[in-house]
Amino acid sequence: MLKGKNIVLGVTGGIAAYKAVDVVSRLRKRHANVDVIMTKSASEFVTPLTFRSLSQNYVTVDMFEEPKTWDIEHISLAQKADVFLVAPATANIIGKVANGIADDMLSTTIMATRAKVVFAPAMNTNMYTNPIVQENIKKLKSLGHQFIKPGSGRLACGDYGEGKMAEPVDIVEYVTGLLINKDLEGKKVVVTAGPTIEPIDPVRYITNYSSGKMGYSLAVEAKARGANVVLISGPTNLEPPTGIEVIRVKTTEEMLKEVSNHFDSCDGLIKAAAPLDYRPEKVSDTKIKKNDGNLELSFIRNPDISQEISKRKEKQIMVGFAAETDNLVENAKKKIEKKKFDFIVLNDVSNRDAGFMSDTNIITIIDSNENLVEYPKMSKAEVSKVIIDKLVDMLK
Ligand code: PMT
Repeated sequence: MLKGKNIVLGVTGGIAAYKAVDVVSRLRKRHANVDVIMTKSASEFVTPLTFRSLSQNYVTVDMFEEPKTWDIEHISLAQKADVFLVAPATANIIGKVANGIADDMLSTTIMATRAKVVFAPAMNTNMYTNPIVQENIKKLKSLGHQFIKPGSGRLACGDYGEGKMAEPVDIVEYVTGLLINKDLEGKKVVVTAGPTIEPIDPVRYITNYSSGKMGYSLAVEAKARGANVVLISGPTNLEPPTGIEVIRVKTTEEMLKEVSNHFDSCDGLIKAAAPLDYRPEKVSDTKIKKNDGNLELSFIRNPDISQEISKRKEKQIMVGFAAETDNLVENAKKKIEKKKFDFIVLNDVSNRDAGFMSDTNIITIIDSNENLVEYPKMSKAEVSKVIIDKLVDMLK
């Protein structure tokens, strides 16, 4: 999602420096490049090695240490930054920047940057509410710098009040929001993800290998681009993405009901889930006991969610997936027609690096005019960007 974006993270000396580690990790998961500059006091709380290991970039602390390249480091990082984030931001760094003091690597680089500068303050509540700090914040805001408001609660010093650094997940959302084109603003996108399960008896069920990764990643990308996202998810082990309404379902019929509830009001429906096509004809109320013979179960057809829903299709763009192991293109084309998809994302699920469970996918997009584009192996986040780009184009 943030591939090609450069974030310079300034870490200053406060206990919340440990949370900045999580900020780096989350930004890296979104494929951003992160360069970390630490103040000397920050390195008392967390070592530069921790940030170097996570960011996979050299971490700068001292202005005058032996340079690693021939660039003038504070100038090159200042120019490279798409966003300059300071988290945690102490009263000291806020005061320095507000008053034009540039006396170490971090304050010098902030002075030299033309990127958006975002502060995530973290300090004792009396310091945060001190009129001098508030005056400095006001001044910086008036100069175009941005602040992520700290939360309230129990602070590291034992006091209660405002001054707790915003949560890493919220900081990362904020930064992502600054870097991503909001081309789905005002649109509602419904994404289905994961498998469905169908019970056999009170302790057994059938399902498939879908992990939900593809659908969750699409939901995150659509949300980052400004959409109001509803994620209808079968059972998965994934963390619910922040800021996204997640509706949990188990069976294919439950998924159909929820898709149906949201379809009329949506602009785009992305069917990345792998709903079961069949369910046991009878669900036993009691545990089926084993005996000497074989167990035979009879299965009946589940509704096809896409086919059912497509009967009500008006302005909505419907995106399908085709999980195929043979006659890939031919089978995918049949699904476009049958399920009235505007385009289908074909993945060869017999390939280990594509389809179910993997972190990557290898896709071919085929539209209803039979235009076909093949893509190389990409992470599911990169695949999501390609799919959302295509959805945005079709919504225009
Ligand atoms: O969840 P992951 O581990 O990340 O794996 C991702 C994935 C392989 C599940 C995903 O990329 C994918 O291919 N999803 C579709 C799986 C599937 O059910 O494919 P299908 O070819 O059987 O169905 C075609 C389309 O009809 C799909 O969009 C499917 O959501 C939809 N469908 C299927 C069955 C059904 N009863 N109703 C449906 O609407």
